[in-house]
Amino acid sequence: MKNKILSGMRPTGPLHLGHLFGVLDNWVVLQKEYKCFFMVADWHAYMGEYASPLMMKDYGIDNVTDWLSYGIDPQKSVIFRQSDVPEHLELAMAFSCITPLSWLERCPTYKEQLRETTTRDLTTYGFLGYPVLQAADILLYKADAVPVGEDQLPHLELTREIARRFHDIYKNEIFPLPKPLLTTAPKILGTDNRKMSKSYGNYIALSDGPDVIRKKVTSMITDPAKIKLGDAGHPDICNVYTYHKIFSKESKAVENIYNECTSGKLGCVQCKKMLADILAEFLKKNIQDKRKECTKEKVEKILQDGASQAKEVAAVTIREVKKLAGLLA
Ligand code: TRP
Repeated sequence: MKNKILSGMRPTGPLHLGHLFGVLDNWVVLQKEYKCFFMVADWHAYMGEYASPLMMKDYGIDNVTDWLSYGIDPQKSVIFRQSDVPEHLELAMAFSCITPLSWLERCPTYKEQLRETTTRDLTTYGFLGYPVLQAADILLYKADAVPVGEDQLPHLELTREIARRFHDIYKNEIFPLPKPLLTTAPKILGTDNRKMSKSYGNYIALSDGPDVIRKKVTSMITDPAKIKLGDAGHPDICNVYTYHKIFSKESKAVENIYNECTSGKLGCVQCKKMLADILAEFLKKNIQDKRKECTKEKVEKILQDGASQAKEVAAVTIREVKKLAGLLA
């Protein structure tokens, strides 16, 4: 029996390069070694988007289209939508009854979101319980490990605490205590040098075409000391150069860019034009060409198959939990 993994993404927007290097690269590798459950966390998305949820369904399909195009394989992994497997909510209900309020109120991600979010009202009962539902997602499949970004570590810690508390109360260790698997991939910065994020509007989407890419790359911040062609640049502090290092296939080409930038021979306009072409080509070849084969109907079918596979596992856990909780003989 392979060890199990569960991970999820909220369908709140198009996927971008940050997801590609932070998440999808990792998932593709992990599915060779683990039994993986990859989930569209639409209930989690709903917690923030409840006032205008209309795009969630489409973003879910669109995100999964990217997963499939990039090599997440429904033959190997279970790909499903959280809301298609209501057992998540049943387990979340059970966990919410045993989770002390104080654990949730002091969760750093909760405090930060409340502080920073101005466009939506997150002072809801449901949002406080965000990590409880996440614990249910993970423990429902008895996942041994969870690939997450650093920002999600408090949620994983809470998941382990909830599992321990459950074990303690019912004197029955039915859940593994899941470990985090952090990606080692360096963070790819957005066009404004901040973390790439939908809310900053500084991202390059996996579905962006050549014209959009050209525009976005043109707006990228370079070495502020290099004002015009002829000035010596400092590639090591330039985000455009970092992108070249990631996307150029030949190290010789990267070396040339380095040398010609520092000697002043290569200007930023030309350097960005080269990068835009490389990026457009990369995305076309690795995602966009394959997206064309992935019709909406195909994706929906894969999600339905995934949901029935997920339910088989989920139902067993829910029976166990209900028995221990005295709801089932
Ligand atoms: N909270 C995660 C995020 O915003 C999404 C998520 C929901 C998730 N359930 C999960 C991640 C379970 C890992 C495991 O990125």
